[in-house]
Amino acid sequence: MSTDRKKIIIAVDGFSSCGKSTFAKAIAARLGYIFIDTGAMYRAVTLYALENGAIRSGMIDEDAVVRLLPDISIAFRFNPERGASDIYVNGDRVEGKIRTIEVSNCVSGVSAIAAVRQKLVALQQEMGRRKGVVMDGRDIGTTVFPEAEIKLYMTADAKVRAQRRYDELTAKGDRVTFDEILENVISRDHADMNRAVSPLRQAEDAIVLDNSHLTVEEQMSWFMELYHRVTNA
Ligand code: DC
Repeated sequence: MSTDRKKIIIAVDGFSSCGKSTFAKAIAARLGYIFIDTGAMYRAVTLYALENGAIRSGMIDEDAVVRLLPDISIAFRFNPERGASDIYVNGDRVEGKIRTIEVSNCVSGVSAIAAVRQKLVALQQEMGRRKGVVMDGRDIGTTVFPEAEIKLYMTADAKVRAQRRYDELTAKGDRVTFDEILENVISRDHADMNRAVSPLRQAEDAIVLDNSHLTVEEQMSWFMELYHRVTNA
């Protein structure tokens, strides 16, 4: 389907755990586009900082994180078993390690460091240079690709989002409580919206999608209409 239309950039921004990745992944599969989860990139840097002593007992040593940056090389590789791309740091697949509560608790702090954002934004811009990408994050429509042809701003009720993440983690066997997850969701919303560099905010030309009570199929048919309009069916 994508071959007979011009390729575009689709930016999917919004709050944590509101189904951005699931939806962005579904759009990419439908259009034959590349899906890029930029949150995974901030998580990968956070994991590397945890494993290399730049975060101790939840305290982030910002200078130490910045010193580690030149040593971090991030790449995505398609995993046919999952039907999705896995993230690699310096050649190691870290997909399974970046979604723990420990990483979640530190990632907002790491993603607020200007040098971290500078490095990852440049990498994201390079990944989207040839278009045909669906990129999900917090600042894609505002900072990474302000010229993106479609910008979605996704949101959902905090409790609905916490329940989704709780179900995801407990299904994997993680021992977490719902309250702990809800607290993490609320505190990350606050940190993401209030950081000095590239805070989460709705781009002026973004379209809001509140998916608290929508299935992925319902969101998809809404999106396809929009896509056909924008690409001038
Ligand atoms: O989408 P996620 O919950 O996996 O993202 C993890 C964290 O990374 C989130 O708390 C905010 C940060 N992030 C960001 O600052 N900018 C992005 N483009 C994507 C994520």
